[in-house]
Amino acid sequence: MRTVTVNASTTYNVLIENGILTSAGKHIKELFPNARACIITDDTVNELYSSTLESSLSNESINFIKYVFPHGESSKSADTFISILEFLAENRITKSDVVIALGGGVVGDISGFCSGVYLRGMKFVQIPTTLLSAVDSSVGGKTAINLAAGKNLAGIFHQPALVICDPKTLDTLPKEIFEDGCAEVIKYGIINDAELFKMLKDGIHNNVETIIERCIKNKAEIVQQDEFDTGIRQLLNLGHTTGHAIEICSSLSVSHGQAVAIGICIATKIAVSMGICPASDLDEVISLLEKEGLPTKSPFDAKALASVATADKKREGAKINFVLPYGIGNCKTFAVEVSELEKFIEKGL
Ligand code: NAD
Ligand code: GLY
Repeated sequence: MRTVTVNASTTYNVLIENGILTSAGKHIKELFPNARACIITDDTVNELYSSTLESSLSNESINFIKYVFPHGESSKSADTFISILEFLAENRITKSDVVIALGGGVVGDISGFCSGVYLRGMKFVQIPTTLLSAVDSSVGGKTAINLAAGKNLAGIFHQPALVICDPKTLDTLPKEIFEDGCAEVIKYGIINDAELFKMLKDGIHNNVETIIERCIKNKAEIVQQDEFDTGIRQLLNLGHTTGHAIEICSSLSVSHGQAVAIGICIATKIAVSMGICPASDLDEVISLLEKEGLPTKSPFDAKALASVATADKKREGAKINFVLPYGIGNCKTFAVEVSELEKFIEKGL
């Protein structure tokens, strides 16, 4: 088993092993010997993996209840959030119990938010089942729901107590959802790990356990320095300012990973146009994203993207922090005046 320890405001382990879902109950029991559990999952993951998790909890005599919501980004809403909180309360879940988020980033983000505010905070365990959630959203403690005005506009920082990652669950992912996760993996290479970027050229599928561990180590290193996202952690937003705008402009029909892939290309093209990133790096970025089946061109113009991006969380007063590559493996934040944003984005289209 591979273990990555995250030393944030709380310290926790990320356990990575093929097949570890069958023994998830054992690892949860070690941390929470007397807790009841509330599994939160979506309908697709419920069909595929709940019974394995439930057996492993029963083997350890852990009593559990379960809340299942329809899969998809539209469930990351205030309505689902309130329904889950009511479910926890109706079932008399207490602070000494534990929430288990079984699923992708949608399940993880909303479950983390619920467990962070229910009774002013209870413990939760992340069991990511998509590549995106394995390499990114299950680690680092960002939790959120979407509001009509934009993605992830309501949320808190709430670190999980444990992350159990079973790469075998990725075998059932539809191709395009695996590809979504590839965008976040490639992102880590561009931000600060040129060696990872090189490794990814051999394909992500073939080497997925090693790649997940490396991405999580990269993320842990950044989160440990800046848990609350006031400095270096903003680098993890590479591709996300325009990416989130593309998701919203498409009414969520462009997935998060596809939108981030396009956002990464926009940021890299802007950097090339400013003379701070070699044009050959843009070619490499586009070619790796395309190899993993990801789009690289925005279906929306700069005006539409700038208008949505202005409501983004990354806005600080009259400025938006944009992440730009100064070459593969070296990114920096760059403050852009909101009034200049449309012209700035135009350079990347
Ligand atoms: P998701 O949770 O919607 O999962 C994508 C689809 O895959 C869903 O339909 C789900 O039912 C299905 N699925 C999940 N696991 C499966 C499996 N093993 N086999 C078959 N199908 C499976 O989306 P996602 O791409 O995992 O995550 C996207 C979300 O994560 C977005 O809301 C994004 O904002 C958020 N996010 C959060 C962070 C963070 O740091 N908190 C980071 C990146 C992204
Ligand atoms: N996914 C971006 C972050 O965790 O900061």
